[in-house]
Amino acid sequence: MYYPEELVEEIRMKNDIVDVISGYVRLQRRGSNHMGLCPFHNEKSPSFSVSQSKQMYYCFGCGTGGNVFTFLMKYENATFQEAVQTLAERAGVNLPEVTYSEEMKQKESRRTKLLAVNKEAAKYFYYLLRKQEGAQGLQYLRGRQLSEETIKKFGLGYASKYSDDLSRYLKHKGYPDELLQEAGLCTISEKYGIQDKFWNRVMFPIQDSNHRVIGFGGRVMGDGTPKYLNSPETPVFDKSRNLYGLNFARTSRADNMILCEGYMDVIALHQAGFGQAVASLGTAFTQGQAGLIHRYTEQVLLSYDSDGAGVKAALRAIGILREASLVGKVIHLEPYKDPDELIKNLGADEFRKRMAQAENSFFFELRILEREYDLSDPDGRTRFQMEAARKLCVFSEAVERENYIEAVAEKYRIGYEDLRRLVGSHAAKEGLAKEVIRPRSGIQKKNTPGENAEKAQRLLLTWLGEEPGLYKAVRNYITPQDFTTELCGQVARWLFEALEAGRFEPAAVISQFEDEEQQREVAALFHARLAAPAEDKKEREKAFHDILVRVKTNSYEYYSARMGSDMEALKRVIEGKKALEELKNTHISLD
Ligand code: UTP
Ligand code: MN
Repeated sequence: MYYPEELVEEIRMKNDIVDVISGYVRLQRRGSNHMGLCPFHNEKSPSFSVSQSKQMYYCFGCGTGGNVFTFLMKYENATFQEAVQTLAERAGVNLPEVTYSEEMKQKESRRTKLLAVNKEAAKYFYYLLRKQEGAQGLQYLRGRQLSEETIKKFGLGYASKYSDDLSRYLKHKGYPDELLQEAGLCTISEKYGIQDKFWNRVMFPIQDSNHRVIGFGGRVMGDGTPKYLNSPETPVFDKSRNLYGLNFARTSRADNMILCEGYMDVIALHQAGFGQAVASLGTAFTQGQAGLIHRYTEQVLLSYDSDGAGVKAALRAIGILREASLVGKVIHLEPYKDPDELIKNLGADEFRKRMAQAENSFFFELRILEREYDLSDPDGRTRFQMEAARKLCVFSEAVERENYIEAVAEKYRIGYEDLRRLVGSHAAKEGLAKEVIRPRSGIQKKNTPGENAEKAQRLLLTWLGEEPGLYKAVRNYITPQDFTTELCGQVARWLFEALEAGRFEPAAVISQFEDEEQQREVAALFHARLAAPAEDKKEREKAFHDILVRVKTNSYEYYSARMGSDMEALKRVIEGKKALEELKNTHISLD
């Protein structure tokens, strides 16, 4: 943090979160909160909640949350410093000269410069496309049936056929050689001097989710090789954490995303009305990209090329989607090669039809697998079934696996019990998953002791966030050290200190966390709803008492286990034992 903490707090307090977010999202009052459609994922009914009293937001749909700074960081894709600056200005607070460390200063300004030079290059390519020089490029794009509007929307451009045209232009504009090189726009060698990376190509600027140009793809106008050239990774261009088209897709309001392979596919789909299409960036689909998609939707329709390479890439992507808990389906494009060609030949309605018919990704995998076996031969059939059973072990959730076993048994006419046994023995042998047991009623998942401890700690923090007045009772028995999990411990230390001083600002704690994942967890904690029945005072008191006992018991056990190696632990254990006995005999009143 580069601004003093008190100043950051002052700025936060002067920017009411409901006011600020209302500038971006239409909010409606619902009880003590304000609700609206979440700007960070596609939804049709509001699950985005902003609390005025807590000065926090949280989305019950996608789990994103934070305070007014995190909102701006996320919405505007800004850094913490930028968010502080924007809100300081909004509230009329003067900021001192930033106390950046020298290293941070350099890092930040390098990023800014890289973004600036990328933007300048994109503008120049865009300009050239409309010049005499770019006529061939424009003709190429039109030949691919792109409308003026589409070309403009995606900022497509043209790189001159002279291989130092861009660098000369940018140098003339005052950008130093090293910056051009670092941005991947040119290379410098003793032999050839400065040379543009892209020349005589149509240019596809690649934008981050906030429309900032972070790199380029360039296509030859015809059959030359390589077909596409892409910018290398740079400090602003992380190929595994960006998706082509996401800047538009994230606000498309569809309840799915269409994942395809190519830039042209994305563009053709958007032009045909499918604004939820995205593609990876000339590299294979990654977990980071799956995580990105997960922020907006859980449904992914794969629209990969129908050729061998496309199928292989789809199989890989399916595994990654599954790991990210995304539901994947496969759109069939036959007899066409990719969505661009299908739409060109059969139109948008046909594509929509194919979307509706998209195949469950597991069945897609099996269908591809099936090709390797001769199912009319008993031997081939057996080996296929063994392999199918092995694949079924990827479903670690018993209910899900059961459903799949049933469906696969039916589809491939395998005896259900036989297949189940096969899956079970596979699982046992390879230790991939537990023996299949058909649950009698719903999912029976037992929490581990660690999970239970964490749950109690979280609940207690949620409760204190709801009713800070309870702190008086809590402080006699519980200390921040009783919160043994890292995140809860950090929040508790901070919260107890604030409550001790008679301040209560849950939103302030969020600025203490730099990691976005942690910020959203803290926001979730303070937005969780308490399950205890609200009306019955006795029940509530009992529930609250239980939580205190659980937190204290866990802490006692935690430090007992560490007594040998840690002097501090011994102290905690003695203290814990005493508090626990007292607590067990005390009635805690919620009045
Ligand atoms: P495709 O070969 O399927 O290209 O590659 P495409 O998108 O259908 O392009 P058109 O329709 O022929 O113009 C899919 C993606 O793989 C990357 C690009 O990101 C491309 O969009 N790629 C492909 C490269 O990076 N380099 C290449 O030489 C080829
Ligand atoms: Mn294509």
